Amino acid sequence: VQTGSPAAAQGAQAASAPAAAREATVLFGSQTGNSQKLAKKLAGKLQENGLQVALSSMIDFKPNALKKVENLFIIVSTHGEGDPPDNAISFHDYLHSKRAPQLNGMSFSVLALGDTSYEFFCKTGRDFDQRLEELGAARIAPRIDCDVDFEDAAGQWMASVLAALGSSAAGSAASASAAAGAVSADSEPSAEYTRSNPYPATVLDNLNLNGRGSDRETRHLEISIEGSGIRYEPGDSVGIYPQNHPRLVDELIEAMAWQPDESVPLPKSPERRPLREALANHFEITVLTPPLIEQLAALAPDSGLNGLLVPGKEQELRAYCKGRDLLDLAQDYDLKGITAEAFVARLRKLPPRLYSIASSAKAFPDEVHLTIRKVHYEHLGRVRYGVCSTFVSERLEPGQQLPLFVQDNPYFKLPADPDTPIIMIGPGTGVAPFRAFLGEREELGAEGKTWLFYGDQHFASDFLYQVEWQRWLKDGVLTRMDVAFSRDTEQKVYVQHRMLEHSRDLYEWLQEGAVVYVCGDEKKMAHDVHATLLAILMREGGLNEEDAAAYLFKMQQEKRYQRDVY
Ligand code: 2AM
Repeated sequence: VQTGSPAAAQGAQAASAPAAAREATVLFGSQTGNSQKLAKKLAGKLQENGLQVALSSMIDFKPNALKKVENLFIIVSTHGEGDPPDNAISFHDYLHSKRAPQLNGMSFSVLALGDTSYEFFCKTGRDFDQRLEELGAARIAPRIDCDVDFEDAAGQWMASVLAALGSSAAGSAASASAAAGAVSADSEPSAEYTRSNPYPATVLDNLNLNGRGSDRETRHLEISIEGSGIRYEPGDSVGIYPQNHPRLVDELIEAMAWQPDESVPLPKSPERRPLREALANHFEITVLTPPLIEQLAALAPDSGLNGLLVPGKEQELRAYCKGRDLLDLAQDYDLKGITAEAFVARLRKLPPRLYSIASSAKAFPDEVHLTIRKVHYEHLGRVRYGVCSTFVSERLEPGQQLPLFVQDNPYFKLPADPDTPIIMIGPGTGVAPFRAFLGEREELGAEGKTWLFYGDQHFASDFLYQVEWQRWLKDGVLTRMDVAFSRDTEQKVYVQHRMLEHSRDLYEWLQEGAVVYVCGDEKKMAHDVHATLLAILMREGGLNEEDAAAYLFKMQQEKRYQRDVY
């Protein structure tokens, strides 16, 4: 797969490499699209340097081609408990199997994306890095492990990759433009507003979708993007920047005996703001990570924090971090000697939260709709609030501005052919993108059959967007809908039970080429739905376990089984 970016292609021409251009392959494994974005960016820079670049998702890369690769650059995120993203699994397995070839003569480097609050930080990237070395490839630039706020570290890695190639890269004249930071991948239509440059959108409406008596509070947000030039497709996500809970901010300031109005620097910026505002808007204060504790321990040797940092007791440190925030830390340890200035300099930037878009731009030009469920629970004697969902539920009013950017998701897209049948499985807020899918199909006048599996706790109070599904059923935009309300009956029923009840029909749809989409909770729901798909293939298709798994894997490769799970 060659990069399709016109700017990148121009870059390659401009370089007009002498003789045979050198080859580079950039592979990414991406769950939310960050690795892919970075991979595109690197591919553009390599092309500007006169290299012939192949850019591909790991799932689309033919392992046979590996032996011919001269320079391999891998950008991959780590998921859950150290797992590769969906589209990296097969390549990860292949490379770690006996089938993997010797790779002497190949040069490589790995960029790993991850989150230091997880135990298996950047594990997938580390795996690739180690394995490529074992297979005989030469690491030409050291692996960099990025935390949530990955942009600077990723930039450094790209610079070191380009520098490593630089000495021998063809068309060295072009490397000057790369060094100057000419970037091609960001020149896409809606890329003007990005993670680091979000658009200040205006909230139009903010409604609770749950009825009286529900345990849930799910907000339906309508946001204006009029005049922004932002475009999106069904399946894409939006990143929004929330604010921390003001009470948590105030309690932290009090526990640390700081002054709320003293001025502190913003993350990686020369700008300064009053502490209270800076903590509310710019820093992550709800997640404790081992690296943060190490840094704070160094600032305050008498705090007692060193007791958490005993070699060999890393698991205990992890256990302490889990479910605790900075206020817990300030209450449990004597950190009062640390100034606000020094403290915030160690904090991570408040990261944006990604939500699957719930609207079709064709149906709602100039708007983006989101479906956000409030997260709150009690833990260690205090009510804990999900940062973004609580901000949206409690403190975001129509008329207010909300910084956002679109994150495109090429792995959760309607089939190009509007006649292709689709099966959508989305309990709870997982139903959001399917509202976008059906809105889109309605606008297109698409003929393909559609089937929605939806579930939540109670029919009466938790049936999100009920009126819309019913209208679509009546209009034929939605061919079929099966619902599972888990707490209306003595025995819990979930979406996968409904799938199994209708396994004959579901199998028939698969035979007709239906694309299956799963959105929502990963650990429980998506896992059980996956197992149920296998069971249906075995029961109705007469396949054994191995063949059923191969069938699903093939569907995944052909983009007929797509997941947006979190
Ligand atoms: P529960 O909370 O009653 O157990 C949306 O959140 C819906 O998903 C709820 O009805 C919830 O049911 C349900 N759910 C919880 N675990 C699930 C699982 N393993 N598979 C499918 N649905 C699940």
